[in-house]
Amino acid sequence: MLVQTLQHIACPGTSNISCGGLLEVRDIKSRAVFRGGFEEIAAGELECNNCGHDYPIVGGIAILVPDWRAYLVARANLLTRLPPNALPDNVLRLGLWRKPETPPTEDIEWESSEILESYLLNQFLCFNADQLDDLEDIFSSKLILDSVRSLWMNGPYFTLREHLSRLGGCSRILEIGCSVGGGLHLLEEFVHETAIGADLSLRAVAVARRMMLQIGSPLLESDRLAQAVAALSEEVTERVRCPFLDFIVADGTLPPVARRHWDVLSSINVIDVTNNPRQMAERSVDLLRTGGMIYLTAPFSIRSPLSRRLSAVKYSNESDDLVHRVITMFCEKGLQLKSIVQDLPWIIPRGPRYIELLSVDALTFSQHNISEGP
Ligand SMILES: C[S@@+](CC[C@H](N)C(=O)[O-])C[C@H]1O[C@@H](n2cnc3c(N)ncnc32)[C@H](O)[C@@H]1O
Ligand SMILES: [Zn+2]
Repeated sequence: MLVQTLQHIACPGTSNISCGGLLEVRDIKSRAVFRGGFEEIAAGELECNNCGHDYPIVGGIAILVPDWRAYLVARANLLTRLPPNALPDNVLRLGLWRKPETPPTEDIEWESSEILESYLLNQFLCFNADQLDDLEDIFSSKLILDSVRSLWMNGPYFTLREHLSRLGGCSRILEIGCSVGGGLHLLEEFVHETAIGADLSLRAVAVARRMMLQIGSPLLESDRLAQAVAALSEEVTERVRCPFLDFIVADGTLPPVARRHWDVLSSINVIDVTNNPRQMAERSVDLLRTGGMIYLTAPFSIRSPLSRRLSAVKYSNESDDLVHRVITMFCEKGLQLKSIVQDLPWIIPRGPRYIELLSVDALTFSQHNISEGP
């Protein structure tokens, strides 16, 4: 975690209490200083100055979920492969090495290689948007390749990029459910102060960090677990991409970041997969500064022409209602709906010969009713 990220994060509290206390560094076990003077805490401990709760930084990634102990125990198979200097003392004290392996939960399933793989490719297309010529090596089918070429640049991340470009950029952007981080790389040229990607998947965040540091070429390696281990344990001396971009492990329903602080909060295809969308909406609204905006897509819509054309896929009428429910949730919290862009393509490459083509509506909300925080 970059030292400068400290000023943008906050204690998530619990489902019952939204703490928001400042997090202070209690102990640094190892650090890295990059060219240009940017300092990263590679392993260390954070403590909330309000409630006293502690959090670990593991392999350069702050784990900012309330019950981080259970979270890390469930991911012991990843952590026990890391060198001890990647782990702070509060994690070493968990004694993960002595515990029998815990059966995977739904969250861990979500982090499985297949899912990660599809997002890796999906986000790689953002990351390398200007080099789509190289795709022949990845997609062996010409039909798929042509779909990707014609549709990808109209997708939700590109629409947001255009929007930011028209605004002349923004100071602070938070992406909830950033997965392996390609979307933020696409936006980084329009961000002036900080960009933070937050995801509940440790493996996705580890890969995101790896891409940020450009250690090797993650797409070419097939063993995703080995990749995540390498991302968390490799010694880093250089930060070749954006110096103010950082990734944290966080639950969007309890966002561990500063309140009334963000110009843009983006969340692409996340609210429909979380188990508590209402709480995610409520907590998101508190994060915006006056005039800030939320950009989200959710969930795919059967109303859109593109979705209707996908005759092979049958979605229930419910998805249409869901778009309205999402709008209502945010408007009830005092946000104004500024725009709906319907029928944006969202493609998920599932393998060299299979691509899923969905359609999503992008919603933009703005915040005008709160006074600035202190
Ligand atoms: C459908 S994927 C979308 C990823 C990326 N935004 C994209 O459009 O390619 C959903 C992502 O949200 C993450 N996620 C799910 N629930 C979350 C939560 N409560 N807080 C943060 N991230 C969450 C998942 O780990 C996954 O990376
Ligand atoms: Zn706290």
